[in-house]
Amino acid sequence: MTCSIFYDYRIGNLKLDNRIVMAPMTRGFADNHTGEVNYLIADYYGKRARYGAGLIITEGVAINELAKGTYGIPGIYTHSQTLSWKKVTNEVHKYKTKIFAQLWHVGRLSHSEILKGHIPVSPSPIAAKGLVHRLKQTFQTSKSLSKEEIYRTIDDYREAARNAMDAGFDGVEIHAAHGYLIDQFMSDKTNQRKDEFGGSLKNRLRFLDLIIKEVKKVVPKNRISIRISEKKDDDKDYVWEQPEEMVRAITEILTKHNIKILHPSVDTYGSTLENDKRSLHTLFRQRWDETLIAVGNIPLTTGISSLKKTRQT
Ligand SMILES: Cc1cc2nc3c(=O)[nH]c(=O)nc-3n(C[C@H](O)[C@H](O)[C@H](O)COP(=O)(O)O)c2cc1C
Repeated sequence: MTCSIFYDYRIGNLKLDNRIVMAPMTRGFADNHTGEVNYLIADYYGKRARYGAGLIITEGVAINELAKGTYGIPGIYTHSQTLSWKKVTNEVHKYKTKIFAQLWHVGRLSHSEILKGHIPVSPSPIAAKGLVHRLKQTFQTSKSLSKEEIYRTIDDYREAARNAMDAGFDGVEIHAAHGYLIDQFMSDKTNQRKDEFGGSLKNRLRFLDLIIKEVKKVVPKNRISIRISEKKDDDKDYVWEQPEEMVRAITEILTKHNIKILHPSVDTYGSTLENDKRSLHTLFRQRWDETLIAVGNIPLTTGISSLKKTRQT
């Protein structure tokens, strides 16, 4: 079936006026000290709503004080940050556009200069290669999260999601892609833990699994999107050894939680994976009947037809 990108779309009781989704984009224009957003930011998102997006996914938003990886990143973990987002959701809703907050924790991809003196955290104490965004200093060896800290971080995702709903967002996207904290747990290169959060793929996915479980307590399951990628922002050569196995394991978790929206991230939509002849979207589509968001250099002309359902049984 092929359908117009301008048709409306329903995911349970979430009704979108069209199928155009604005991808999350870090802008770095929040107050660097407080993590609050201002009227200019409300105006920025309002314009994207006015000019036609059915759904906007915000820039990555920090879920706690250790979550940000560069300057000007908004937060959603304090009362004043939460209140400040109401300006944005009110503005976007004037145009009947829906808006999700992207919940973000960068893990080791940060620096104590950015984190008010705190060393960045991650599953294992391994420094990333390259330079910290905008700060242009080398990455520090991160601090391994204790089990207690892992559970506290999972709670922080839930509280950030609760704040997002209080601020008037229509849902949330959990950023589990691009080599950030959740992805650092998923990859055996960055996760060398010996406890139940490391080792087997099932263990490495436990962090994501528990975050979804908690976020579902405060956000309806049809309003939670999960962003997944093979690519890592800090490690351009990284590829999954067994993409099908990875996709199968991730999809099992999403299905178990009855999640309805999946947002695989690739640079070029439809490009084949290094270790598979299929694209990431095709691999997911074969196991995933629910909403799949397409992204990555999509020319206008193919934007419409790429919405076709391609599941093979
Ligand atoms: C300036 C910029 C900032 C981005 N920030 C984020 C982000 O905060 N979270 C995220 O998941 N992806 C982020 N991305 C990736 C985009 O969501 C998207 O996947 C990418 O731009 C490819 O899609 P496109 O070719 O349609 O632009 C960013 C991309 C750009 C260009």
